[in-house]
Amino acid sequence: MAKLVFNDDEEAEVADGEAIKPVCEEIGIPFACEEGVCGTCVVEVEEGMDNLTEFTQEELDFLGEQDVERLACQCKVKGGCVRLKF
Ligand code: FES
Repeated sequence: MAKLVFNDDEEAEVADGEAIKPVCEEIGIPFACEEGVCGTCVVEVEEGMDNLTEFTQEELDFLGEQDVERLACQCKVKGGCVRLKF
């Protein structure tokens, strides 16, 4: 099981290899297109970027080359702990 921490406040568990979207949605992160094109679901990764899957092409197209933000509708967690801010 991987652990997601939101805004230093709420925690949730996600099975290794699973998408983070369902848990993010429960926590209150807004989603719209769910296909990586609108940017509604942008989150800041404070810690644990390496524990998320590689950037999708949609993320690279929308966010560009950087290592701070992710699109919550696009990434999956590999394991460990990821701290997110939204
Ligand atoms: S919901 Fe549109 S980019 Fe994630």
